[in-house]
Formats: sequence, structure tokens, C-alpha cells
Amino acid sequence: MPFHCPCIVFLFIVLIFVIKPVAHSLPFIVLHGIGDQCKNRGVKHFTDELTSISGSPGYCLEIGDGAWDSWFMPLEEQTENVCDKIKQMKELSKGYNIVGLSQGNLIGRGVVEFCDGGPPVKNFISLGGPHAGTASVPLCGSGIFCILADALMKSEIYSDYVQAHLAPSGYLKFPNDIPRYLEKCRFLPKLNNEIPEGRNTTYKERFSSLQNLVLIMFENDSVLIPKETSWFGYYPDGAFKPIVPTKETKLYTEDWIGLRTLDEAGRVHFVNVSGGHLGISKSDLKKHVVPFLVDEASVKKYSNARVHGLPGAITQNYHRKQVAGSFKDETPSSVKDIFREQVGLEEENDSD
Ligand SMILES: *[C@@H]1O[C@H](CO)[C@@H](O)[C@H](O)[C@H]1NC(C)=O
Ligand SMILES: *[C@@H]1O[C@H](CO)[C@@H](O)[C@H](O)[C@H]1NC(C)=O
Ligand SMILES: *[C@@H]1O[C@H](CO)[C@@H](O)[C@H](O)[C@H]1NC(C)=O
Repeated sequence: MPFHCPCIVFLFIVLIFVIKPVAHSLPFIVLHGIGDQCKNRGVKHFTDELTSISGSPGYCLEIGDGAWDSWFMPLEEQTENVCDKIKQMKELSKGYNIVGLSQGNLIGRGVVEFCDGGPPVKNFISLGGPHAGTASVPLCGSGIFCILADALMKSEIYSDYVQAHLAPSGYLKFPNDIPRYLEKCRFLPKLNNEIPEGRNTTYKERFSSLQNLVLIMFENDSVLIPKETSWFGYYPDGAFKPIVPTKETKLYTEDWIGLRTLDEAGRVHFVNVSGGHLGISKSDLKKHVVPFLVDEASVKKYSNARVHGLPGAITQNYHRKQVAGSFKDETPSSVKDIFREQVGLEEENDSD
């Protein structure tokens, strides 16, 4: 007996380790939007909630010093700042996922494309990202630094001065001013490989190495103009209508950044949810975000659950929404509502 017992225990322990499936629980980072910072209740609650539902460790990553820098530090610098922080986080060294909120998505994409020597990004989940630009100046409001922000926005957006001092000027894209945008705007044309002589295949290689790209658009988004920018759709050059769907944009057809490559590999998930800018319900979070933070198996299940046989993402998503709509369960806990309770900007304005 004294001989057998430890053996059996030992065998049992070995079995547990052998049988237990290796759950790949990668960490994720949350990149906040403009006027936000990690200590704010909204984004903090959002990160905690995702961590607890997914069981994967999540970190809200402060961009610069938070709210002030998110408005006034140019996006190239915000990206460098985040890239440096990520490289210093041992927790992320084996790879990680990104959850982007609004403007934070452009920084996240900047990290994927520009961050030399950073750990690999696996899944990128974008909530309301101005990926193809936005044609409307986000309104700041009446807070202290809003006076400064509003003054800058009323001046020449594509001037060198504003480009160097106001973050959103890095992705404001006025369809009636495309030549100036391409010449002067410092961030988005580079991020989207829009300038023919400036295209860098490294950005494309890096972006197309993502395992999954989830693009969540809010049906009633009134902050991003047009809301389709969340899916890389945008206005045609020179006009405000009609909106060019993602798959008809040159960025997609000519595959400037690898979006088409990713999509053809079945790795882009176009998702359309109800709600205003960032106003995602808890059930939609569980349905469209959490599976990508958990493990490979959940992602497969998610992909298989998509409606097949209908051409085009729009039709697919429209139908999936219809199906999903019939079992909406919980009371929506809107991230946007929580954002509204934050101090400062979000009391009166949308966080962009
Ligand atoms: C493209 O980007 C990579 C990574 O940042 C950089 O090392 C390389 O020099 C760039 N190539 C060109 C032609 O600018
Ligand atoms: C969302 O937009 C649709 C039309 O686009 C409108 O019918 C609906 O009332 C809006 N919902 C909210 C909550 O504003
Ligand atoms: C998004 O979903 C709504 C409601 O199901 C639908 O009316 C709308 O057409 C969808 N939009 C797109 C682009 O799929």
C-alpha cells in the first residue's frame, strides 16, 4: 500500500495534464479612444468585463498620458508610444490580441503595421474604428482643453501646424479635398498605403498576417461619418455619395494593406450591431468579441456559425443579425452609457 498510493496519485496527476486540453488563452490589450484614459470608469469596466467573461488577461494600455495626449499628440507618436509599452510588457511577448475602441483602432493598426520588433498580434477586434477616415470633425465640447481643440479644428486641418498638434487631423478625410489630404495628412494615408509611390509592402505583410480581423460597425453611429468607415467603406473621391462598399474600394481591390488577402482567407468578420458609437450590448460583446479572446476552437465555432451561400459580407451579416436578433437575452449594458458617466468630455459628448 504505501508503495502503490503515491504511484497512483502520480499517474493521476500526469493524466490530468495529458488529458486537459491546452487552452490557448492569449492576453489582450484595450486601446482607448479620444479623450479617454485607462482610469476612467467606462474603459476600465469594459476591460474588466471582457477579462472576466473571456477568462483571458486583459490590459488597458494608456496611450501617452491619457486624455490630453489622445487629443494633442500626433498619431505617429501615439503609435510609437504604444509600441514601446507593448515591447516592455513581458505578458505580451508570446503574442496577444488587440481590442480597439474608436480612434484606438488606428493606433492598434499602426502597431500591427509599423511596430518593428514587437510581439505578434493574433486577433484584432475593432469597435467603431475610423479605418477609412472620417469626414466630420469630432466635437470636443466645453472642457478646458476643448477650447484649444476646437480652435485647432476650426483652422486649416491639413496645415503642418494642425497635423503636428491635433490627433484627429491624422484621419480626417474630406472627400472634396483628396489631393491635399494625400499630400498633407500625416497618418492615415501612410497607414492605408494610399500613396502610390509611398507604399510599403512590409505594412501589408504584417497586416495580412493577422489570424482574425473583426470589424464592428454600429448601425446608429453618428460620430463616424460615414459609419461604413468601420468596415473600410467610404465616400468616393470628390463626392459625398454614394458610399463605396468595402469590396469596391481601391484599398480592397488593389489590396494595398492586405485586407483582401485576409478576407479571401476567411479571416475578416464584418459585423453590424445595433446602437450608437461604441454602444455595444453585453450580448453582442459575448457574441462577437469574446470568441476571439478565448481560443482557436471558439473562433472556429464562430466562423462556422456564419450564414453560408450568400455572396457578400453585407448580406451575410444582415442575415446573421436577423437570426441573432431572436435571442437577445440580457439587458444591454452599453459601454457608451458608462463612458458618459466619466469625468470630462464624455459627460456631454461621444468618445470618438
Ligand atoms: C517599410 O517599412 C519597414 C518597417 O517599418 C522599414 O524597415 C522599411 O525601411 C520601409 N521601406 C520603405 C521602402 O520605406
Ligand atoms: C437607428 O437607426 C434606424 C434607421 O437607420 C432608426 O430607425 C432607429 O430608430 C435608430 N435607433 C435608435 C435607437 O436611434
Ligand atoms: C445592419 O443591420 C440592420 C438591422 O438588422 C440592417 O437594417 C442594415 O441593413 C444592416 N446594415 C448592413 C450594412 O448590413
